[in-house]
Amino acid sequence: MDKIQSLTGMLDQYDDGDMSNVSSKLFEVEKIIKNIFTSYKFQEIRTPVLEDANLYKRSVGDSSDIVNKEIYSFNDRNDKTIAMRPEGTASVIRSIIEKKLDQTNHKLWYLGPMWRYERPQKGRYRQFNQAGIEVLGIPEGLPEYEMISVVCSVIYEFKLKNCCIKINHLGTRENKQSFCKTLVNFLEPFKKDLDEKDLERLSKNPLRVLDSKNSKTQAILQNAPSIKEFIDQSSINLLESIKNEFSDLCKIEIDHNLVRGLDYYSGFVFEAISSELGAQDSFLGGGRYDQLSSQLGGKNMPAIGMAIGLERLANIAKVELVDRKLVTFVIAASNLEPKAYKIAHHLRSINRDITLDINLAEGSLKSKMRKANKNNSHYVIIIGDEELKSKTAVIKSLKDELGEQQTVSIEDLYSFYESL
Ligand code: HAM
Repeated sequence: MDKIQSLTGMLDQYDDGDMSNVSSKLFEVEKIIKNIFTSYKFQEIRTPVLEDANLYKRSVGDSSDIVNKEIYSFNDRNDKTIAMRPEGTASVIRSIIEKKLDQTNHKLWYLGPMWRYERPQKGRYRQFNQAGIEVLGIPEGLPEYEMISVVCSVIYEFKLKNCCIKINHLGTRENKQSFCKTLVNFLEPFKKDLDEKDLERLSKNPLRVLDSKNSKTQAILQNAPSIKEFIDQSSINLLESIKNEFSDLCKIEIDHNLVRGLDYYSGFVFEAISSELGAQDSFLGGGRYDQLSSQLGGKNMPAIGMAIGLERLANIAKVELVDRKLVTFVIAASNLEPKAYKIAHHLRSINRDITLDINLAEGSLKSKMRKANKNNSHYVIIIGDEELKSKTAVIKSLKDELGEQQTVSIEDLYSFYESL
């Protein structure tokens, strides 16, 4: 029979405890990220992975690649168009408005899978994981510093080298509009030199032309007007102040061509890139989106946030496994021994900081001991027919060179395990 394969661009993530395997690292990375977010007093929010497809048209935007080409959507049994979330921000705002929490401030985090029908390549998948934060209800000012502080913490905690935070300011909605108009006028005479993709961007969202990877377009843009001439001095001051405050912690660059691919941004935007990642070099991105709440029918609620691409971060992160002690429990009795299993159950309940591994497969004592050694166990607890009869157990240390071994009562075994 034909085997069923996984879908293109969708990875199986499997933890084998080996930190050179990106999947194993991903699980560790998630724990550390949650810890960073919690240290800033962000609180978790979980929203459904399925949403009304209109949510993304009205937030991420009709002109974005995400909504145009990349949404996974289907009609449900009621003929309603449902989308698998391509990002987390729109759902968070939808949820806060729905709960009528849009008058108060919030600091929220989320983590989970997102879907985008992109052309898969290294670092770009159709299902990928993001960890994001959103600061809601507070206008431009301090939250911008909080965002960059979190980015610096991520760079520090994962010991990232060769990376840079790019920052820009898109101004107010009016600033953005008048810059777009000037950019369109500037590009008009060069239309014949633009490729199909850039022409489409020019008609739908001219700012995105600045993101073009086409070298011909980039050459034309050398002489293009800069957003710097359209934004207020206070916006430029903010960029410079952030750069001054954090440059001793991370490399920060002001890049006036940084526009971001989602329509909801205005004001401060940023991305962190690493030269170790290849073509898909951005491992996180975000910015301010003060209009999104009112666009989605909520109150006027200023907001800023960011999301980290966890597969990309795991790829470059230096992660050490937290050293949990491993004990192997070997049942060496001639028959299936539920009593021994019950002892193991009790051991686990008295000390959850230890991993107690029972080899469930049949095999000789020798092969089980070999496996315990291979897995780097600190101790082996052996219970055979003799021990079951005399209500004792053997404890053998695999870490001290003499391989010291002692027979103890079950009560002493419990005390020993508790003290590990
Ligand atoms: P984004 O820039 O579209 O922003 O995605 C954030 C990060 O997700 C990217 O920097 C990248 O690391 C990762 N990512 C995106 N697409 C893929 C993919 N196909 N495969 C692997 N990783 C990917 C947002 O999603 C915004 N919601 C961020 C935000 C939050 N802005 C404000 N609040």
